[in-house]
Amino acid sequence: MTATPPFDQIDACVFDAYGTLFDVHSAVAQCRSMFANPDAEADKVSEIWRMKQLSYSWLRSLMGPKHHVEFWTVTGEALDFALESVLGAAAPGPAGLRDALLDSYLTLNIYSEVLGTLRTLKAGGKKLAILSNGSREMLNRAADNSGISDLMDAILSVEDVGIFKPDPRVYQLAVDRLGVTSDRISFQSSNAWDASAASAFGFRVAWINRFGQAKERIPGAPDAELRRLDELPPLLGL
Ligand code: LAC
Repeated sequence: MTATPPFDQIDACVFDAYGTLFDVHSAVAQCRSMFANPDAEADKVSEIWRMKQLSYSWLRSLMGPKHHVEFWTVTGEALDFALESVLGAAAPGPAGLRDALLDSYLTLNIYSEVLGTLRTLKAGGKKLAILSNGSREMLNRAADNSGISDLMDAILSVEDVGIFKPDPRVYQLAVDRLGVTSDRISFQSSNAWDASAASAFGFRVAWINRFGQAKERIPGAPDAELRRLDELPPLLGL
């Protein structure tokens, strides 16, 4: 198979973690039966939790280095907001719900095509890495749990630069650690804003638009829009 420009000179494939490799909504799905009224509450909590988690990461980055905390803390704070919004301040859910939800972030389900795709890319000689807002422990636990750690050349956490995506220092981390120039890195994210920002940084970018979302109106434009990760290897000639 022939690689398709601009994906014809790729040495490394770098992946966003949450939403791209791991299904963030599987945390709530794993704990669904703990909700008093799962149909009315669970999906709402999951949506608000994810949106707030991202908002808090951006807000803390804007507030400056003294307000930076690990993504684990941000994830917990966003969960508290989501539970209070949906279940009310007085009764933020049945006993144990909060801790069970947070813990399930360490054992998120991996999307079904990920393992096969990573194996194909690895067999094709590409370096593989995760580049994520997640703290080191969150990423290592989720990767170990889903059996992809051994396939990775690097699992890179923003904690090495102390600021969240889309700060360019985060994307630079992949260049520095992998020793590959940005134009030879293919970056994959299901988060449209991450895909745009990574493109503005200088990566070749495949936006994994799993949820059929509208494109972002911010600087940077992904080079390809895919629905699933297993559409990537053919672009690279694999
Ligand atoms: C991450 C978030 C943005 O893994 O999904 O970095």
